[in-house]
Amino acid sequence: MQTAPPGLKGLVVAETELGGVRGEEGFFHYRQHDAARLARERSLEDVWTLHIDGALPPAIPIIDGGPLRALPGPCADLVDAAAARLTDPMATLRIGLLAVADVESRAATLDRSPDEMRDDALRLAAVVPTILARHHRVRHGLQPIDPDPALGHAADYLRMASGVPPSEGAARAVEQYLVATVDHGFNASTFTARVVASTGADMAGALVAGVGALTGPLHGGAPSRCIAMIDEIGTADRARAWTRDQLAAGRKIMGFGHAVYRAEDPRGVVLREAAERLGGELVGRAAGMEQQILEVLAAWKPHQRIVTNVEFWASVVLELAGLPRAMFTPTFAVSRTIGWTAHVIEQASAGKIIRPSARYIGPPVQVGVTT
Ligand code: COA
Repeated sequence: MQTAPPGLKGLVVAETELGGVRGEEGFFHYRQHDAARLARERSLEDVWTLHIDGALPPAIPIIDGGPLRALPGPCADLVDAAAARLTDPMATLRIGLLAVADVESRAATLDRSPDEMRDDALRLAAVVPTILARHHRVRHGLQPIDPDPALGHAADYLRMASGVPPSEGAARAVEQYLVATVDHGFNASTFTARVVASTGADMAGALVAGVGALTGPLHGGAPSRCIAMIDEIGTADRARAWTRDQLAAGRKIMGFGHAVYRAEDPRGVVLREAAERLGGELVGRAAGMEQQILEVLAAWKPHQRIVTNVEFWASVVLELAGLPRAMFTPTFAVSRTIGWTAHVIEQASAGKIIRPSARYIGPPVQVGVTT
């Protein structure tokens, strides 16, 4: 038996063709392509195609999620009923995903052919924005809006949530956020989804498990807390003292630090550019705070190299694009579901269950004695 380091940190537990993260270099890639460059230059549909079908358009046909976004009638009713009673969009998302899979008989991956798994992957990722936007509108007493298959995934998500077509700038900024967050190595939610997939369970089951991991504030739950933090700090000149107080109280500074990156998080760089293009006083204020927070963190743990992570600038981009704050973490699920589906296919195709061990550290065991 070998003992893994705490949190499995630095341990390679699988092989993947889907991408990787080089923390020391501040670099990540989707398959063999520089992912930050894809976020700057490509559409979400291009990157969706890369993940699921293995190459970028126009070399192969682009995935069109438009016609797949519509919910089956019974599922739309169920999502509306859930949204009327539940506050958390991520709870409704889990219900909606399981409902679509059930109504459409999307069975255990163990029993699905590669073509059927691809079909599951596209369909389940496509309905995520529809479910989330419906939840938001129903909760706010607004009429749900059906998808427009002619629009791109990002623009249609914003339209279904807000009720009005987004500006080109806002749609592109959110699309860049989505492209930048499709996949990111063996993060907690991807690992979770792959563990479920390794049992041969259905794809929706694996995605719902991924959603659970993503809700954690140390993973995907950070962006709404980041914007709340920016509000709480108020002005950049208060950031230094505020950060020192938080650290002294043993609290985490949201939007900073990363399990892998020791150089600047390249997603944060892309999103800072996107925020600057959207403009406004929030951008300058956030930049001033970022600088001061980084300085305090560097003085606090000089050897750890705690960097700005994706969530800090994501929160600014999503705020400037007009998304309600309650939708920040759910928006992460819009893109990450695409990544999970590709990982589920890869893991299910490997056909090996993930089943590590734990060392018992309780009171001495007395064999044959129960009291
Ligand atoms: N605030 C306070 N402390 C932090 C921190 C932060 N933002 N980021 C790192 N640290 C601390 C860690 O807790 C760790 O402390 P320890 O040595 O006492 O265990 C130390 O700095 C080194 O951390 P590191 O090994 O670099 O990262 P990690 O894998 O332990 O933690 C996170 C990674 C993401 C969980 C952590 O940075 C964090 O909690 N960040 C805030 C939440 C956030 O923004 N999450 C989104 C991630 S994309």
